[in-house]
Amino acid sequence: MAKIEFVPGIQTPNVNWWQTENSWCSNSYLVLQGHTLYIVDSGIGSLHRTGLLKAITKFRDAQRVYLLSTHWHLDHTGNGMILGELDLRFPEVHYCIPEMAKEDMQRFMESSDASVDVDMGLGRAEWLGEADREEFDLGGIPFTGWKVEGAYLLSTPGHSPDSLSIYLKGEKAVFPGDLVWYVNPNQMEGSIDSLLQSIAKLKALVTVEGIDYLGGGHFLPIEGKQKIIDYISDYEEKERVLLSGLEEVVAGKDRVSVDHCLGRLRESDHPALKEALRINFPYSPSYLHRFIRVFLREKGWHEVEKGTWRLII
Ligand SMILES: [Fe+2]
Repeated sequence: MAKIEFVPGIQTPNVNWWQTENSWCSNSYLVLQGHTLYIVDSGIGSLHRTGLLKAITKFRDAQRVYLLSTHWHLDHTGNGMILGELDLRFPEVHYCIPEMAKEDMQRFMESSDASVDVDMGLGRAEWLGEADREEFDLGGIPFTGWKVEGAYLLSTPGHSPDSLSIYLKGEKAVFPGDLVWYVNPNQMEGSIDSLLQSIAKLKALVTVEGIDYLGGGHFLPIEGKQKIIDYISDYEEKERVLLSGLEEVVAGKDRVSVDHCLGRLRESDHPALKEALRINFPYSPSYLHRFIRVFLREKGWHEVEKGTWRLII
């Protein structure tokens, strides 16, 4: 049996991806350690759910199952209804989520306009409390988070405040959700400062712990320590280029519009900026709009009218 079972998400970016089964959902991963099965991210939509349940049949001897989520976003947590199926198939099932994600998940479930069947499984959640947060020293790199049996749930905020990198030391595998995903953060709740810190820590962890499997949310898994390090370094560099591109655009100004920033980025020939514009997803506001807004907010700018920001010191 494969060390890690990969269940690919269906990755067709679509403006209304939550309204069709055949759309944008995250990857899932299954890892067996002894008699314990870890499932990373449930994804969303019945097509993905079918694939996930099929993969689970390969682990029918597991005695204990942990469903874990890298972060609360819908495309990673929307198939919580599989918990009912897991309860039928396995003697012991746990669903562990950081408490800090609870409010966002509850609010989402109360106001969701998703057309696909969504269940974040909140009734079954075992909340990981802030008071129970632990400190870990992994090869000299400090992390905080939780340990759930053999899995380290390491806080790596940036894409979202609750983002975890799920580290299975015995398998030399890490699942960072959407932490490693250019252009990032692509949501207003993200933080570029935190993201860069988290990426640096993740890369250091891969290096010192000899991690050889990187299972991200929206791209194919990467195998081999050096390949992972190169991939993260390349990503880190692109994020820095985007950041310094924006710093140049706003230098000396105290009033800018997001559209002006985008226009200036379009003038650049830098491959990282060209890539950012090429992959910019057609949501409204787009990923780049959101990135620019997070950038301005973190640099002390305030939105004074729609799309226009002022530097207020
Ligand atoms: Fe996400």
